[in-house]
Amino acid sequence: MFRFACQRLLPREKTSFRRNATAKGRVDVDQCAVEVCHLVDRAAEHLRAASGKMRVFETKLNSKDLVTATDREIEELLIRGLRQRFPEHVYIDEEGTAGASTGRKLTEEPTWIVDPIDGTTNFVHGFHCSCISVGFWLDKRPELAICHNPTLQLVFTARRNRGAYLNGAPIRTSGQTELERSLIMQELNAANLGCEHRDILWQNAVGMLLKAHALRTTGSAVMDMCLVAMGAADGYYEFYPHAWDLAAGTLLVREAGGVVMDPAGGDFDLMSRRVLAAATPQLGNQMVQLLGDKQIYHQRDDEPQKSNSNSNSIFK
Ligand code: IPD
Repeated sequence: MFRFACQRLLPREKTSFRRNATAKGRVDVDQCAVEVCHLVDRAAEHLRAASGKMRVFETKLNSKDLVTATDREIEELLIRGLRQRFPEHVYIDEEGTAGASTGRKLTEEPTWIVDPIDGTTNFVHGFHCSCISVGFWLDKRPELAICHNPTLQLVFTARRNRGAYLNGAPIRTSGQTELERSLIMQELNAANLGCEHRDILWQNAVGMLLKAHALRTTGSAVMDMCLVAMGAADGYYEFYPHAWDLAAGTLLVREAGGVVMDPAGGDFDLMSRRVLAAATPQLGNQMVQLLGDKQIYHQRDDEPQKSNSNSNSIFK
């Protein structure tokens, strides 16, 4: 099933996992696609095997920021595998296998951006929205995306200028242009509940609820973006997610015909920890208008981590 689901990501002529030698210094996106499919397949097997077991977790920045051994094992599998194949590429990952996760600049260099489990809290609780998410960026723009939810058997793939796919079948956004007729995804991240952000979070949620048909949350930023890409949701916004939560979803939404932008309008910035995705530019602009000046700015991913930044004292 996985190989079939990946077929649109793989080289057009030979849709197999066969690996060829890469010309030195040249970025062979076909080779990147072959390798990442192969590794995500293995990673998904690992995630599936861990899913029935009791999930022991540790905490990171605060008592609601969870991580498990499975996050680290999958990240290690992906980063080690990719690095063996592409030692000259740059790596940005959630759990720090490739070095400090934050304080890394996004450059023109070929860059792999890896979230081993997006939706770790879901994974800990056995809530079926945990995805392996990998984006490959080149010249500061997304080239490849793969998001695999092994429990629900959903494999989303996208390649720049070649469309977005779910389990091998093309997907498109809903085409919705009216906020009044939309279903909006919003993550309710506990780290936003610090006093200075709490009111903004609720005001935005209430504003969306009053205007749109409905508001939903999955606990996985990439899953939210996949839902927009496949037309099951019309929009998504969040102030908090990291580059590894957004790198794959950005391409998936754009290749499915949607827009990804800053929640205050203007260009999307992968390292800004701010995102708004919508089925159409019209809907995106209406969401921007509704958010207005009720914006949250967290410390950017390309700034060095300040001690205790992003932790939230009320949950420590
Ligand atoms: C988180 C999830 C969550 C979103 C956060 C992410 P993680 O990723 O995607 O839904 O609200 O912004 O950081 O920690 O589960 O990989």
